[in-house]
Amino acid sequence: MDILLPNSVDYVLLDEDKIEHRVCEMAAQISADYEGIRNEDFLLVGVLKGSFIFMADLSRRLMVPHRVDFIALSSYADKAEATGAVRMIMDTRADVAGRHVLIVEDILDTGYTLDYLYRIFGARQPASLRTAVLLSKPERRKITVPVDYLGFEIPDVWVVGYGLDFADRFRTLPYIAALKPHVYQK
Ligand code: IMP
Ligand code: MG
Repeated sequence: MDILLPNSVDYVLLDEDKIEHRVCEMAAQISADYEGIRNEDFLLVGVLKGSFIFMADLSRRLMVPHRVDFIALSSYADKAEATGAVRMIMDTRADVAGRHVLIVEDILDTGYTLDYLYRIFGARQPASLRTAVLLSKPERRKITVPVDYLGFEIPDVWVVGYGLDFADRFRTLPYIAALKPHVYQK
């Protein structure tokens, strides 16, 4: 089926069917790994805004009880890419101590953000700490960070849609698409 793409979009990297299929597989794996867990012990922590659609789809597919919570971080606008400086601007409501925490992130790029999250949440005495990340760009990694559940490895292109943005645009496209390089390269 042909779809009408926004002008800035180069090509569709992952269509809705592909994403749905993979998210189902991830949910099945997570459900198996956390089998028998109680609702109050299992906390999914979504990283806003990028993970909001992934979080919604993944959590709906889980077959184990769980709670959802969200955090928000500062973005590349203040040079996080160059410096690795990440700052939390909204914290979880739920107490993390003693709970099994699964961080839900949209994309792993340099690795600084996830590394920061491991350190912050790791220091809060969770019962366990794991990560579910939809996309990874291995070529871009600056530091090594472990990921427990990964959706797709993708090439070094700027992707948008399914929650991911460029300057807060294209977030609600139902597919994941590569932007035309002239849009994001200065
Ligand atoms: P990292 O700290 O470099 O791993 O960056 C991770 C964050 O950068 C993600 O949570 C996204 O917000 C953002 N990001 C990196 N690459 C992309 C992309 O291709 N599209 C949209 N956001 C991206
Ligand atoms: Mg993000």
